[in-house]
Amino acid sequence: MAKIGVAVLGATGIVGQRFISLLSDHPWFEIRAVTASPRSAGKPYSEAAKWYLEEPMPEDVAELEVKETDPKALEDEDVDLVFSALPSDVAKDVEPKFAEAGYAVASNASAHRMEPDVPLVIPEVNPDHLALIDVQRDERGWSGFIVTNPNCSTIQMCLTLKPIADGWGLESVTVATMQAVSGAGYAGVPSMAIIDNVIPYIAGEEEKMETETLKIMGELDGDEVKPADFTVSASCHRVPVLDGHTEAVFVSTEDDADPDDVAEAMKEFKGLPQEKDLPTAPERPLVVMEEEDRPQPRFDRDLENGMAVAVGRLREDPLGGVKYVCVGHNAVRGAAGASVLNAELLKEEGYL
Ligand code: A2P
Repeated sequence: MAKIGVAVLGATGIVGQRFISLLSDHPWFEIRAVTASPRSAGKPYSEAAKWYLEEPMPEDVAELEVKETDPKALEDEDVDLVFSALPSDVAKDVEPKFAEAGYAVASNASAHRMEPDVPLVIPEVNPDHLALIDVQRDERGWSGFIVTNPNCSTIQMCLTLKPIADGWGLESVTVATMQAVSGAGYAGVPSMAIIDNVIPYIAGEEEKMETETLKIMGELDGDEVKPADFTVSASCHRVPVLDGHTEAVFVSTEDDADPDDVAEAMKEFKGLPQEKDLPTAPERPLVVMEEEDRPQPRFDRDLENGMAVAVGRLREDPLGGVKYVCVGHNAVRGAAGASVLNAELLKEEGYL
């Protein structure tokens, strides 16, 4: 099978590098172009990217010349699908240009996530929302389209919420996050600010968790998604961890939920990516841990190549419902891996 040519937009940043790593040797996709800011355009990728991953930079990508982030710059590259790791303010204007020019855009940026005709998808949770692509194309007259994945903290929480919602119904969700520094980009949080410290504020993060969750867990009704009818209250904090977000989640359920039954439902939880055996799908989207002191980001962020969410300390919440701790790799399951899985679903569903 001929591979689909792809480009990574914003390929030199932290999420961009994760895209490069996940897409090198991908069975369906082949990286044919990389883009970044005008500061990097024209340089070889090996020079433009300050590579921070432990595995070496793939040799074929190292040699690519970084292009400007503009559809015109990719005209000669035989690319159909672009992955966006752009900062949101840049993605806002640039991604529609790519969609208009006929590209399928799988975006990790927040800029378009909450637009009513843009699918915000976690393949195990709401794959049916991809149907919004047809609405988007009709309304905007684009030959391409934009599909987004949620915010990193939101993805891992929604994966844990899905089996609870299906089994017992959700009344409210309260979450406190302990988020890794890689989520802020390479130069995002100065070391003087974060070492020996916790920063109890991440701009825009709580709003994203509180609104995106309701869109993802909402129901597709004709041409629109009706937001889910429960409340989410989030408090987000930056901690001195490199990769892997930890979340303490308190879930109030409609029906009485026994923690052992919830653990069982989480262990058995699977979705379309597992059914279709998509290349980047984890065998177990949720890994339930019995040890009293797990999950921990240093030990559990790489489970299933960073695509699983580890859940532990599952217990009864005296307020009603259950509470637990979950850990997910923010740059893999929470960002680049999420976009790649979305693109695999797009191909499986005939959108590419
Ligand atoms: P560059 O390396 O040239 O600055 P991060 O969020 O980790 O900082 O990564 C942001 C990514 O987006 C990088 O690849 C960066 O490229 C790219 N980028 C930043 N500003 C722009 C811009 N104005 N146009 C295109 N790409 C941009």
